[in-house]
Amino acid sequence: MVHALGRRIEKLNSLKTEFPELIEVHTMDVTDEDSVRFLNRLFDAHPIDLVFHCAGVGALNPQLDFAMERETLDTNVTGFTKVVDLVFYRMVQQGSGHLVVITSVGGHRGNLQAPAYNASKAFQINYMEALSIRAAGISKAICVTDIRAGLTDTAMAKGEGLFWVASVAKVAKQIMNAVKRKKRVAYVTHRWGLIALLMRLLPFPMYRRLQ
Ligand SMILES: NC(=O)c1ccc[n+]([C@@H]2O[C@H](COP(=O)([O-])OP(=O)(O)OC[C@H]3O[C@@H](n4cnc5c(N)ncnc54)[C@H](OP(=O)(O)O)[C@@H]3O)[C@@H](O)[C@H]2O)c1
Repeated sequence: MVHALGRRIEKLNSLKTEFPELIEVHTMDVTDEDSVRFLNRLFDAHPIDLVFHCAGVGALNPQLDFAMERETLDTNVTGFTKVVDLVFYRMVQQGSGHLVVITSVGGHRGNLQAPAYNASKAFQINYMEALSIRAAGISKAICVTDIRAGLTDTAMAKGEGLFWVASVAKVAKQIMNAVKRKKRVAYVTHRWGLIALLMRLLPFPMYRRLQ
């Protein structure tokens, strides 16, 4: 059984209509602590093998409007931490499980247009590394995967002059391959691994000119 959680019940219900035997749907807002605690009920009911954390927001905010920055931090930092901590803790309790988070290639460097987004993804990448170290010290049956996505053709991919925007189908296939292989870190699509490497190596004066 797959449990799909999200904010918009009408979207979840249409998914349920498509796969009635396979999917249960529930509302959850990662910025609402009570709502996140609902995950405990799922773990109480039966072991959970695999959890994908995909929720995220990102806005172009060159004017540094704090309300916009705060929404990104509430969702991608505080909400993310609440969810992954609860899931990780419950997987340790049950003795097994696989936690997958969609971070971003953007987490490797600062971004002029979306400062809070890239900084929040840097937080997630760093946090996932910490959970990997922790998992390795606990049990081989507990696994975490950091999917560092590049540009993907969803509502999130905003801005002019985007390049190498991959289709959702291609990205989903590569994510599932990485999950089956229990990779600790995977770049999707693969070519974004090269961009990530260049981003990490590029000296600041050169990187600044690209912004
Ligand atoms: N698209 C890209 O180019 C790209 C690149 C790198 C990484 N990513 C990451 O991939 C993940 C998925 O994004 P996407 O590309 O699929 O974009 P998307 O279509 O905008 O999806 C984002 C999802 O997050 C959900 N969400 C936002 N705030 C939430 C909250 N408080 N509680 C629960 N759910 C919440 C949204 O729900 P609603 O429908 O209710 O708004 C939406 O379903 C994100 O973490 C994003 O940072 C995307």
